[in-house]
Amino acid sequence: MIFSKVNWAGLLQNCATVCKSSPAPMGPEIAQKIDRLPAFETVIPKTEQSFSPPQPLLDNAFGQSLQPLLPFLPWTLRYRTDDPEQEKYGWVELVGPDGVQSAKDFRLGIFWQAPWENYPPHQHNAEELYCIISGEAEWQRGQEHFRPRPAGASFFHSSRQIHSTRTGSEPILALWAWQGQIDWESYSVKPL
Ligand SMILES: [Fe+2]
Repeated sequence: MIFSKVNWAGLLQNCATVCKSSPAPMGPEIAQKIDRLPAFETVIPKTEQSFSPPQPLLDNAFGQSLQPLLPFLPWTLRYRTDDPEQEKYGWVELVGPDGVQSAKDFRLGIFWQAPWENYPPHQHNAEELYCIISGEAEWQRGQEHFRPRPAGASFFHSSRQIHSTRTGSEPILALWAWQGQIDWESYSVKPL
């Protein structure tokens, strides 16, 4: 299987479409940044950091555009402490300073979380947008209670706003984006 620039362009187009439909102002802003990217002309090799979210999460138009690219996408995965072989959540940066395609002023990626897992409260300088592709999870933002975020939901975290994610019986697949101060140095997990 060879990396397809056509598939890549199609995935980014889907990302832009998803962002554009977000009620958060950051959605259309990110969509515009995606639309302004130059054509990606690099053919990238397969990666040993590839990961495939469970098939039911990919049974949608977005997932279908993502699937042929999965062998090429380097995920960052976190594992269960009681079972170091078992992934609990992970993300991949599609576009950004550390992305497959380079961009200086935003990050765009995909997030996955397994059922019955917690992503602990954390914060960062960047403003953040989430658009849920498939599955369902609950997000907590600031002092709010946990809220169910099903497929189609889209929501915003302001700079330094603490947020966390927990899944129930379903996993989740989401699109995420950062803008503003997008350095990782400001990322911190809130002490529990
Ligand atoms: Fe975040």
